[in-house]
Amino acid sequence: MVRGEGQYLYDAQGQRYLDLVNNVAHLGHCHPHVIDAAYDQLKKLNTNTRYLDANLVEYAEKLLKHFPPQLSVVYFVNSGSEANDLALRLARAVRDARHKVHLRMRAEAEAERARERKERGQERRRMQASALGVQMGNMVSEVGRLSHEQIDESPVPRGQGPSVTTAETAGATRNFAPTAAASSNDDLFMLYQELVAAPTSSGGRGLGLDAFEGDDHLGSSGRTEPACDHCQRSNIICLDHAYHGHTQACIEVSPYKFNGRGGGGRKPYIYVARCPDIFRARLELAACPADLANTKIDEGKLAEEFASDIDRLAEEMYHDHQALSKAKIRQLESSGSGDLDALLQPVVRPPEALDGRQEGRIPDPSEESQQDTAPSPKCCKQCCPGCCGRPVAFIAESAPGCAGQIILPRGYLSAAYKRARQLGAVCIADEVQIGFGRVGTAMWGFQTQPDTEGANEFLQLEEIPTDDVPLSVDESDDVPANEAAQLPAYVVPDIVTMGKPTGNGWPLGIVVTTKRIAKAFSNTGMEYFNTFGGNTASVRVGKAVLEVIEREHLQDHAHRVGTYLLESLKRQIVPKHGYVVADVRGLGLYVGIELIRWSPCRPDEPLTHMGGLSHQLSHPQLQDSATQKPTMTWEPAAEETSWVANELVERHRILISTDGPDHNVLKIKPPMCITIEDMDYFVNALDQVLSRLPDEFAWARAFLSQMTPAKENAARLKGSQL
Ligand SMILES: Cc1ncc(COP(=O)(O)O)c(C=O)c1O
Repeated sequence: MVRGEGQYLYDAQGQRYLDLVNNVAHLGHCHPHVIDAAYDQLKKLNTNTRYLDANLVEYAEKLLKHFPPQLSVVYFVNSGSEANDLALRLARAVRDARHKVHLRMRAEAEAERARERKERGQERRRMQASALGVQMGNMVSEVGRLSHEQIDESPVPRGQGPSVTTAETAGATRNFAPTAAASSNDDLFMLYQELVAAPTSSGGRGLGLDAFEGDDHLGSSGRTEPACDHCQRSNIICLDHAYHGHTQACIEVSPYKFNGRGGGGRKPYIYVARCPDIFRARLELAACPADLANTKIDEGKLAEEFASDIDRLAEEMYHDHQALSKAKIRQLESSGSGDLDALLQPVVRPPEALDGRQEGRIPDPSEESQQDTAPSPKCCKQCCPGCCGRPVAFIAESAPGCAGQIILPRGYLSAAYKRARQLGAVCIADEVQIGFGRVGTAMWGFQTQPDTEGANEFLQLEEIPTDDVPLSVDESDDVPANEAAQLPAYVVPDIVTMGKPTGNGWPLGIVVTTKRIAKAFSNTGMEYFNTFGGNTASVRVGKAVLEVIEREHLQDHAHRVGTYLLESLKRQIVPKHGYVVADVRGLGLYVGIELIRWSPCRPDEPLTHMGGLSHQLSHPQLQDSATQKPTMTWEPAAEETSWVANELVERHRILISTDGPDHNVLKIKPPMCITIEDMDYFVNALDQVLSRLPDEFAWARAFLSQMTPAKENAARLKGSQL
C-alpha cells in the first residue's frame, strides 16, 4: 500500500481497497485536521513534558470531559502496551500502599498487645509480691528485686523466644533473639521491623529465603518499604485469549500470547478467567444448527456464571499461597528459627473478604487476632492479609478483541469488578481497541456495561491510604466526599488504558485513573517520566483527534452505520448462509462474524470441544438410530474463514482480518468515517463469496435446509439454568 485516504487504501498500481480492519486510523487515513495540527506543532516546538505546555493541559481537560468525574488523572504514554504496563504498576502501588499501612497498623497492635502483656506481668508480680509479703513479711525487700526492668530485659535464651536468622546483604548471618516484651512502643516497632521487615537492598527480602518464590515480575518500586515475598507476588486476573501488549508485564497477562506459539505458558501468579462468550454458551445449549437462532440465553445469569470464575480463582490463589507458606515454614524450621509459633499467623482466606467485612479495605488487625483461634493454615508474620494470596488487579478489555470480537453479557463487568474489588484488586479496563466512540452508544466500552451489582461502591476513591510522604496532587483538589452519590449507572473502572486510535496513527497512549490511585503511585516516591509520552506534538495530535470526533459526530455515526451493518448481515447473510455463518455480533463499528463447520462425528472420536464448552448435538435427526449416539458435531471453520478473507481481498478489494482462539471470526473495525454505501458493498461481496464456498459445504447447505428445529429442544431450553 502506498497511500491512504478516509476508509480507503491505495496500492502501487493505484487500485483502491476498502479498509475494514484499521481502527488505528480511527478518523480515517491521513485526516487533514490531524496532519495540520502535527505539522503546525512540529514547525514550532516538539519537546518533552519537562516544560509547561498549555496544549497538554487543554488536551487532558478535553479528554477528561468524556470520563466520569471519578476518573480524573491522566498519564501520557506512547502505545497501548505502555499504557497497560503503567496500569499494572499503578495497581501494584495501591497494593504497596495498603501493605505499608497494614504493617504500621500491625506494629501498633503488636505494641498494644505487648503493653497489655507487660501490665499483666506487673500486676501478677504485684500480686506475687503481696502474697509473699503476707507469707513472709520481712522478705518484701527481696521481692523488690523482681522489678519489671530486670525481668523484661533479661535476654531470652536462644530457642526459647522468637528468634530468626536473617541473611543480610553483606552475607553475614546473625541471630536475633528479641526480648519477651520490649519496654516501649518504639522498641516494639523496631523489634517488629527486625522480625517482619528485615529490609535489605533486595527490596525487603530478608529472612534468608531467597529460594522462596517472589515473582516480583512487575519490577520493584525501589522503595526500602518492607514487603514480604508473598506480598511481592503480584497475582493478577485476566481473561482467557486476551491480548494486552508486548512488554514483559503485558505478555504475562495475555493468554493469547503466552499460550500461543513461542509463548512460555502461564506464570504462577497469573490467574485466567474464562472469556464470557455468549455465542459459545448458546451453542452449547442448541441441539442442532437449526435450533441456534432460537436458542436465547439469560445474559444476567450468564454474566454471573462467568464472573463466578473470580471466586474460583480466589480459592486457587489461597491454596497457592498456602503451598508457598508451607515452603516458607519448612525453610524457617530448617534454619533453626526457634519458637516458630511466635513467628506465625493464620493465613486469611481470600473469599472471606467477600463477606463484606474487608471489601478491599485495609484489614483491621483486630480481625486477624479474632481469627487466631480458628484452625487455619499459617504463614510467617511478614504476611499481610490485605494483599497476600489476593489479586492486585483484574484486567479485561470491555469487548475482548483477540478472543473473537466478544460482546460481554450485560452485567458481566459489574459482577466481575465487584468480586475483584472485594478481594482488594483494582479493575483495569483496556480500551485500546474499542475506545473513542467506536462502540457507538458510548465513548468507552465500559460505559455499555450497567452497574447491575453495585461494583462502583467499591471504586478506589477513599480507601487508598495517603500517608506521610508529600503528595504531588493538590489535596485541596481532592475527590468531593459526596462523589459516591454521583456514580453513574454504568461500571466505572479504577484505571482505563487507551492506545491505537488515540493519535489516529501517531504513537500516543493514555492511562486515566482516580486521584487516590495516582497518589498511591506518587507516594512510592519514584518520579514518573516519559521522554516522548505527552510531548508537545503528541498532545496537539491527540487534541485534534478529539476535535474531529466531536465535530464530525463520529460516535453517533458509528452507532448508525454499525447498526445498519449488523441488521444487513442478519437479514441478508444469516438466513442464506446459516450453515456456516453461525453468529454475527457487535457494538457500533466493532463487529465479528463467526464461521463454523457442521461435520459428521468420526467413529470413536470425542465430540469437538471449543472454548471449554463441550457440544452435544442431541437432535434426533442427528443421532444414529441404532446406537442413539450423535452423528454430527461442529468445529470452527478456520480454513473457510481465512479463505473468505482472502477472496474478499482478491476479488472485491476489501481488507478484512480474522481472529478468535480458533481463527474462525471475521473481524470488522474500520475507520469511523466508513459509510452505509461501503457496508452495502461489503455485505453484497460477502454474500457472493459465501455462495462460492468450496463443494464440501454443499451437503451442509442441503442438510440444514431440510432440518426442523427439535421440539424437545424448546422444552430442554426452558428447563435450562441459563
Ligand atoms: C486490547 C489491546 N491492548 C493493548 C494492545 C497493545 O497496544 P500497542 O500495540 O499499541 O502496544 C493491543 C494491540 O493490539 C490491544 O489489542
